[in-house]
Amino acid sequence: MIYLAPLQGFTDFVYRKVYDQVFQEIDAYFVPYISMKNGVVLPKYMKEVLPEHNLQKRVVPQVLVKDSPEMLMLSNLLQRYCYTEINLNLGCPYPMVTNRGKGSGLLPSPEKVKEILTAFFDKYDLQLSVKLRAGLTSVQELEQIVTVLNDFPLKEVILHPRIAKQLYSGEISEEAFQFVADNLKHKLVFNGDIVSVEDYRNRKQQFLVVEDWMLGRGILMNPFLPAEINGCFLPEVEKREKLLKFHTLMLENYLELMDNEGNALNKMHQFWAYFSYNFSNQKKAFKAIKKSKNMMKYKTEVQRLFAQL
Ligand SMILES: Cc1cc2nc3c(=O)[nH]c(=O)nc-3n(C[C@H](O)[C@H](O)[C@H](O)COP(=O)(O)O)c2cc1C
Repeated sequence: MIYLAPLQGFTDFVYRKVYDQVFQEIDAYFVPYISMKNGVVLPKYMKEVLPEHNLQKRVVPQVLVKDSPEMLMLSNLLQRYCYTEINLNLGCPYPMVTNRGKGSGLLPSPEKVKEILTAFFDKYDLQLSVKLRAGLTSVQELEQIVTVLNDFPLKEVILHPRIAKQLYSGEISEEAFQFVADNLKHKLVFNGDIVSVEDYRNRKQQFLVVEDWMLGRGILMNPFLPAEINGCFLPEVEKREKLLKFHTLMLENYLELMDNEGNALNKMHQFWAYFSYNFSNQKKAFKAIKKSKNMMKYKTEVQRLFAQL
């Protein structure tokens, strides 16, 4: 199976809905994390998990929590929204998050992870998976974390095998992934740097136990990647048509949703950070889009770029 990774600011509910409409190759959509501040969930997070915004076949909301009370409150909200499956974020690497003991900030505290999981499974009959990094400061942290995770009936564990300070670049720790593959009792999903069919094939050969794959930036850059991994390669004319449809629907949805054109334009600029990889000179295409400061200029630029495709 192929899962869409949660990417805050990119794989929002508009992206997930439109992607599903145009490409239909993803088996599960993981929602970027929701979290609490002073006991409340911010509206920007709430709209990401509203049931009417998540009508795809399998949608998994993700929670970012510092302790068991937060875990219970967010699980309660998601249960009320009729989700049957939740993902716990043990991976977010940013200091603003980790310094508050959330995301990969929990990895050096296995007792805290245990407390959160105990509270959840005591109270809820929902399925829970975990999205994990290889550590906050060291891959050694995995040893105790894996022991804790093995004590609970998790649905699966998704591992991005980098430590927090690497953020999203630098070497992936193959040893860390192998360690978890050897010691975890749950199903293990690979995540990280799969941006081509070749990357996928190499990882598949390397980690024979892995059957399910979570892809993030690879899909944002090339929305055909899941289909290609499944052996379906479209002719260029059809690809162009689908990309055009994808773009048109994204723009239509943002325009309908936002209270002014400027905000829709900002969202489209962000979309192009990765979408521009579908055009021959990525940097030049993205620069031209970012320079289009009003909707008329933007539309003209989009037309020009598609005409060259
Ligand atoms: C801009 C950005 C936002 C992200 N937001 C989240 C998030 O909300 N929750 C999460 O678990 N991971 C998040 N991630 C991590 C991705 O889900 C994924 O683990 C990472 O990008 C590596 O996979 P990839 O190489 O296939 O993109 C984010 C990554 C990026 C680059």
